[in-house]
Amino acid sequence: MYKKFYGFSDKPFNTSPDPRFFYSSSRHTEVLSGLWYAIEERKGFVVIMGDIGAGKTTVCRTLMSKLPKNTKVALITNTHLTPRELIAEVLEEFDIEARSGSKQKLLSAFNHFLIQQLEADVNVVLIIDEAQNLSAKTLEEIRMLSNLETEREKLIQIILLGQPQLKSKLQEPRLEQFRQRIAFSYFIEPLNKQDSADYIRHRLQVVGCEEPRLIFTDEAIDMIYQHTRGTPRLINLFCDSALLTGFVENSKPITTRIINEVARERSLDHRPQHTEKVPHDAAGQANHAPVAITEDIKTDAVTTGDR
Ligand SMILES: Nc1ncnc2c1ncn2[C@@H]1O[C@H](COP(=O)(O)OP(=O)(O)OP(=O)(O)O)[C@@H](O)[C@H]1O
Ligand SMILES: [Mg+2]
Repeated sequence: MYKKFYGFSDKPFNTSPDPRFFYSSSRHTEVLSGLWYAIEERKGFVVIMGDIGAGKTTVCRTLMSKLPKNTKVALITNTHLTPRELIAEVLEEFDIEARSGSKQKLLSAFNHFLIQQLEADVNVVLIIDEAQNLSAKTLEEIRMLSNLETEREKLIQIILLGQPQLKSKLQEPRLEQFRQRIAFSYFIEPLNKQDSADYIRHRLQVVGCEEPRLIFTDEAIDMIYQHTRGTPRLINLFCDSALLTGFVENSKPITTRIINEVARERSLDHRPQHTEKVPHDAAGQANHAPVAITEDIKTDAVTTGDR
């Protein structure tokens, strides 16, 4: 909707984990390289944790877009599964025929598949996203999968991604064996102030903006960091709402005034500001026209993040 107004080739702040927009913060890059290494060296188990919206899924999608051809990857995102359902899902994702029968039968079909892949020099990677939802029983089943190995190397590399609750889950005494299998674990922290600013500029550059200052003032970018504390998804939501507000108000670049307005809307505190808000003309003058339609658009913008 506002793409043309700003001259963007695409919307810069979608909330999907699109590798095209990947910003190499030092932490995201470290995690990406760690995953790459663990897969290449067949290290077995890696766990990635991070707060909501910190970029776990994005790092993984970026990894998947870069893996060499001799890698087969399955990504599981539905994690409310019993151990048997999990195995069946893994077989389905890897396109393995046997999907019925006892759990033992499914496991033996999977083992057979892994040995075939090893013979063909194919590295098999299983990624389980939203792993904080896995039950202890299903986690145990995943550990058993990681036991499939020859004398020399692991037959399957497993990456678990999850929110911080995953850590407390893994600390349960009955998951001791699981913990001992983890080759590496990483925690993705929010971006720092400098990275947050560079992240915003990077996403603008991906959609063809050569001069990010003409879109967001430096002060507005500082303020976005203060409101979001560097969580990428929140930054995206803030920036997207701010761009929409700027478009509706015909106002460029985005200033701290607009960021404050977006912050008020996002805090769901509409009471006093709501009645005061009016559209502005190109010179930034309030024109006191009715605001009902633009308000609807912006509420939608904040909740869906997808226009
Ligand atoms: N390094 C990055 N480069 C570009 N965009 C990023 C980066 N990290 C996160 N994002 C963006 O932030 C948003 C949230 O990222 P993502 O979905 O990967 O978070 P998550 O940690 O998987 O969240 P959740 O805990 O809700 O699953 C997405 O729009 C994503 O594109
Ligand atoms: Mg995610």
